[in-house]
Amino acid sequence: MALLDSIIAEAKKLNKRIVLPEGDEPRTLKAAAEITKEGIAKLYLIGNEAAIKAKAAELGADISACEIIDPETSGLTAKYAETFYELRKSKGVTPELASKTAKDATYFGTLMMKLGDADGMVSGAVHSTGDTIRPSLQIIKTKPGVSVVSSCFLMELPEDNAYKPGGVLVFGDCAVIPEPTADELAAIAIASSQTGKALAGIEPKVAMLSFSSKGSAKHDRVSKVQEAVRKAKELAPELALDGELQADAALVEAVGKLKSPGSAVAGQANVLVFPNLEAGNIGYKLVERLAGAQALGPIIQGLAKPVNDLSRGCSVSDIVGMVAITAVMAK
Ligand code: ACO
Repeated sequence: MALLDSIIAEAKKLNKRIVLPEGDEPRTLKAAAEITKEGIAKLYLIGNEAAIKAKAAELGADISACEIIDPETSGLTAKYAETFYELRKSKGVTPELASKTAKDATYFGTLMMKLGDADGMVSGAVHSTGDTIRPSLQIIKTKPGVSVVSSCFLMELPEDNAYKPGGVLVFGDCAVIPEPTADELAAIAIASSQTGKALAGIEPKVAMLSFSSKGSAKHDRVSKVQEAVRKAKELAPELALDGELQADAALVEAVGKLKSPGSAVAGQANVLVFPNLEAGNIGYKLVERLAGAQALGPIIQGLAKPVNDLSRGCSVSDIVGMVAITAVMAK
């Protein structure tokens, strides 16, 4: 079974409550009809009820099983504004600003999760990555024991791929932290390995990527990755992790043996940690386009409750898949 099909099958057993703040967005409405018809999740659509219903009717999308909540008229808004004020007053938020912010659909959805009224959120068909996850960074915060929020993609290679037919690789971070510190790279490595295990059932072998393998080049950027390797090993001594490695040393057995002899990871890595966001974002798009991999993500990892981001070019089936992933992460 393809990875996403197995994630959807698992989501169907969980009946999680997912918020879609972009409630009147056409692809979101078509996806909502499919998600509820297939029983993948219970959905809350945020926005003006009349506008959402009119748009759904125009599209022929049956959203009768979704609950529509309008922050302008909902009885929940005052409670959410109060919570936001309490959480952010030390950051200069006034009661007036809190009342206005709680009516913003993304903040409203985030506050639903914070107060236990929803299990997860998916947005980003209209909003940027920053606007989608900033409310969660402010309100939901990281899971206990996790220092930073980051992201990864599950890259499923096609069955006719010569390197690893049908294999799944995890790429992190490709969407959140532009210039990670050594500590943040270590956190990305640990979080990406956990995401790969939880969603794709892989036994993680983590390569910390660089343009150098085991000291073959000297540069501050190489030293940062070497420091990240030390930190990750301290934090997760049980994790199979090696670095710094070039991508060929990470993936190709013969090169791995040559460049990192005796390594349990080199040549067999399935979790690739990129040294910065440029490398990660460019890297996943190259593999998606040139190798025909299915890129599932960005999966936002490290938050206390799952919030996932869509690309503004997303399709209806991308939204369905991301809701299923979010439901499984809420387990
Ligand atoms: N983990 C945990 N908390 C964080 C993180 C993080 N990675 N980043 C910011 N925060 C917290 C801050 O501590 C702060 O908390 P506080 O207000 O309680 O003190 C809050 O979030 C806001 O911090 P800012 O520094 O103001 O963060 P900002 O909102 O400017 O930026 C963001 C955060 C949006 C994630 C930024 O790093 C960003 O824009 N990243 C790149 C996103 C992007 O464009 N990705 C590429 C496209 S995606 C794709 O192609 C798939």
